[in-house]
Amino acid sequence: MKNSAIIVNTGGGYNNVTLGHREAVAPRAGEIKVRLHANSLNYHDFAVVSGMWGPTEPRIPMADGAGVVLEVGEGVTEFSVGDHVVSTFFPTWLAGEPLVEGFATTPGDGVDGYAREVVTAMANAFTLAPKGWSHIEASTLTTAALTAWRALMSDDALKPGDTVLIQGTGGVSIFALQFAKMAGATVIATSSKDEKLERLKSFGADHLINYKKTPQWGNVVREITNHQGVDHVIEVGGPATLEQSMTAARIGGHISVIGILTGLGGEISIVSALIKQLRLQGVLVGNRTQQQEMIKAINANNMRPVIDKVFALENIVEAFRYQETNQHFGKICLEM
Ligand SMILES: NC(=O)c1ccc[n+]([C@@H]2O[C@H](COP(=O)([O-])OP(=O)(O)OC[C@H]3O[C@@H](n4cnc5c(N)ncnc54)[C@H](OP(=O)(O)O)[C@@H]3O)[C@@H](O)[C@H]2O)c1
Repeated sequence: MKNSAIIVNTGGGYNNVTLGHREAVAPRAGEIKVRLHANSLNYHDFAVVSGMWGPTEPRIPMADGAGVVLEVGEGVTEFSVGDHVVSTFFPTWLAGEPLVEGFATTPGDGVDGYAREVVTAMANAFTLAPKGWSHIEASTLTTAALTAWRALMSDDALKPGDTVLIQGTGGVSIFALQFAKMAGATVIATSSKDEKLERLKSFGADHLINYKKTPQWGNVVREITNHQGVDHVIEVGGPATLEQSMTAARIGGHISVIGILTGLGGEISIVSALIKQLRLQGVLVGNRTQQQEMIKAINANNMRPVIDKVFALENIVEAFRYQETNQHFGKICLEM
């Protein structure tokens, strides 16, 4: 169907997902029209599509989209027809300190997203994609990669020789591993599966811990670091992992509070945060300038994303069901 679009009807839920179509108007001043070719999946998109945080009106899901510029509106100088582009998570947060709370302006949540073939949007809703990357590769950057980049490079200015702890083998953690190695850091990685730990090693992880077999993994991290603790934790687990993360961090260490994989709340002792003077930083993806800086670094380092599996756009529900199994290593994508 021409100009296909996935529509998540009010309330969401897998039975509430339909394939429709949406035209895209000609771009006005400051806008561009983009032929989208790929999306990547994130837990946040899962919440919208599955109905966990279903939309209050019919919504085109997916925050991460990549494609080619078809037309540019008056006054747009940053893009030309034919440029390969990737979407931004917060089209109105261009630079500097956080300006936005929640997801009201996020494509695929508060406004329509990119599970569609063609869109007209303000130019700030996209940046140039990395040179030589496929659209599928570029679509992995908007949410997971930028979150990892901002956490390590903007919030904490990672240095060569620093030690970073990553949790599990999802999109955010694998990008954090890649950026940390790019910056010359040592990486301690955890996973629930030994075969995934082996793969982490092949991507440069220096120390490996199975967090299922070693529930008190924070102490193991301390042993690995000569009882100093790590400089930086990419905390994606949430309430059930935060205490171990605080054990694993060094005095004054930085914990990026990113994920909710183990739920939204729970009883947590904050003693370590006080006595070790930890810096817990809530993260909500990042701004457009950070995305451009990340892509500059990717171009300079010939980095490529780790893609687990690609589904056709119309199989979006199947893709999210696969994500729920936690079998993946890196990113799951959709192509159109
Ligand atoms: N705040 C933000 O800006 C932001 C941005 C992106 C994502 N997030 C959040 O960050 C989390 C991860 O996102 P993602 O896209 O990377 O997810 P994902 O790709 O779905 O990651 C899933 C993986 O996480 C690991 N995992 C699950 N439970 C774990 C636990 N208890 N301890 C350690 N690892 C665990 C598993 O790895 P193994 O199979 O190897 O065990 C699993 O395969 C989600 O909660 C998401 O909502 C937040």
